[in-house]
Amino acid sequence: MKLVSATANPHKYKEMKEILSGKIDLLPRPDEIPEIVEDASDLNGNALLKAQGIMKATGLPAIADDTGLEVEALNGAPGVHSARYAGPDANGGENIEKLLNELASVPMNERGARFRTIIVILFPDRSIITAEGIVSGKIALTPKGKLGFGYDSVFLPEEVPGKTFGELTNSEKNRISHRGKALQGIIGKL
Ligand code: IMP
Repeated sequence: MKLVSATANPHKYKEMKEILSGKIDLLPRPDEIPEIVEDASDLNGNALLKAQGIMKATGLPAIADDTGLEVEALNGAPGVHSARYAGPDANGGENIEKLLNELASVPMNERGARFRTIIVILFPDRSIITAEGIVSGKIALTPKGKLGFGYDSVFLPEEVPGKTFGELTNSEKNRISHRGKALQGIIGKL
């Protein structure tokens, strides 16, 4: 089966392509499709907006993911606002800096967090399949590791004590990650 990816993020595309390899032929998002405004109030809504934009532009089944980092001590923030946590044009480094500042006085045992991903596949006949993936862990005191992207260098997954996602190879991350779990779930529903 062929699916067009809605992500404009090359890191996400690479992860998705690896996880789906041998099962789905994941086509890259065509460059000419303009940016899709992600202004829904939750991850499901944003994933659906992205899938709709790509499905309408290509006429092909589209797959979209939306991800949020939910931090317990911040009552679930940044959540759906994770991409623009430090401002509308914020980059990964600025978002991490804001997160670590907000948590500056929070001790390690209260730094619980999780990544949550919603994946949506939208078909031209308007049928929809969705799946959720969650990985629990903690926010590190300082960034560690140069691999991955986004908040990876400050997320310590429960499954790999003492290491951030930024210190894991792609295949190590994909095996336990929110995106890996959501994609395995959606494959099971196809
Ligand atoms: P979006 O799903 O592309 O809107 O991502 C929301 C925010 O979460 C962005 O700042 C991403 O960089 C970040 N993000 C998404 N997936 C991951 C991940 O797997 N690791 C670390 N950060 C991520």
